[in-house]
Amino acid sequence: MSRVFAGPGAAAGGAWARGLAPGGRVMLVSERVVFKLFGRKVLGALMKYKVSVFLLPSGEKAKDWSAVSRLLSAMLSKGLGRDSGLVALGGGAVTDAAGFAASIYLRGIPWVAVPTTLLGQLDSGIGGKTAINLPEGKNLAGTFYQPTAIVCDTSFLKTLPARERVSGLAEAIKYGLTFDPGLWKYIRAHWDELLAGKQQPTAHVVRKGAAWKLKIVAKDERETKGIRDLLNFGHTFGHALEKAAGYGRLRHGEAVVWGMRCALSLSVRGAGLPVRVFNEVENFFVNIPLPSLRGIKPAEVLAAALKDKKARQGRVRFALLKDIGRPVVRVVEGSQLTALARSMLPLSCSVPLELNSYSP
Ligand SMILES: NC(=O)c1ccc[n+]([C@@H]2O[C@H](COP(=O)([O-])OP(=O)(O)OC[C@H]3O[C@@H](n4cnc5c(N)ncnc54)[C@H](O)[C@@H]3O)[C@@H](O)[C@H]2O)c1
Ligand SMILES: [Zn+2]
Repeated sequence: MSRVFAGPGAAAGGAWARGLAPGGRVMLVSERVVFKLFGRKVLGALMKYKVSVFLLPSGEKAKDWSAVSRLLSAMLSKGLGRDSGLVALGGGAVTDAAGFAASIYLRGIPWVAVPTTLLGQLDSGIGGKTAINLPEGKNLAGTFYQPTAIVCDTSFLKTLPARERVSGLAEAIKYGLTFDPGLWKYIRAHWDELLAGKQQPTAHVVRKGAAWKLKIVAKDERETKGIRDLLNFGHTFGHALEKAAGYGRLRHGEAVVWGMRCALSLSVRGAGLPVRVFNEVENFFVNIPLPSLRGIKPAEVLAAALKDKKARQGRVRFALLKDIGRPVVRVVEGSQLTALARSMLPLSCSVPLELNSYSP
């Protein structure tokens, strides 16, 4: 499993790069904005290697076969061998695409993920899932390929736009609700500081969240045992919403907040979550700044949910909660989901979800 180096300044020391490339050559893969901000710091930590730099396009365009193909050719032309390494510096798009390239180049060379978004440091940079998109949909080609190290330098998050911060915090909330009541309590107590990007509480939730993700992934690396499904709390409906809204309209974590609200509502009926706990969490969620869902069609969300990789015969598998810190996977009928989607979608974020506004 990967070693994690987390906290302010984690990228500066070179310990994470030790042993990465016995042959001495490293490809640093990033994108324009991120490289300009942090490239020099990471190059400093790689001083003992002969480093080439390759910049992918920003955002989802990085996760395109043509971009990865250009990267692979650049690795060949720079003479990288099996004893070389790759360092991916950027958000989830860069680490997904560069990790994919590392996994297939000469049948796989070692790589390090240096995620620079909060989402990346809590989720996408951890766990070894690499991916590119196909014209038919997101993440349809990829590999499971663990990085040797994950470097979560929380000082990199200072330049992150507020919306990206909220998006990442959604994943921290997910770990708290699903596995760790203490973390959930901490997030609530330090919410304003976390939203403002304060270093100390941000580093705390990154360390905790990253540790939870690694712990779950270690038990079910290839998603075959059902354990990794628990990480999907808020994601089944969230992914469907992202797709129905049209990719780019909602940030991933924003859709996950809506998805967690949906899963909590389902948890009351389907997993025995106490209404008191539902109300406590819902009261917190309604104050999270989110774009509204106006105009998104319930039927499209449902269609997307039913196309989920894990959906079967009109029924969808959901990670739900029996209580905070007590997750369970349950199968939910499509009809129940339609009713819930109808009750949620006309709402803006300032309106609490009514438990009785749909009938199962
Ligand atoms: N592999 C996984 O397990 C996994 C899990 C969840 C999501 N993902 C993938 O992650 C991707 C989304 O990742 P993301 O949310 O990190 O977005 P992103 O990689 O698209 O980056 C978002 C934007 O933030 C900018 N940016 C990055 N770091 C910055 C910083 N420190 N300061 C200022 N700007 C910065 C980038 O230039 C980019 O424009 C999606 O493609 C999704 O499919 C993968
Ligand atoms: Zn996620």
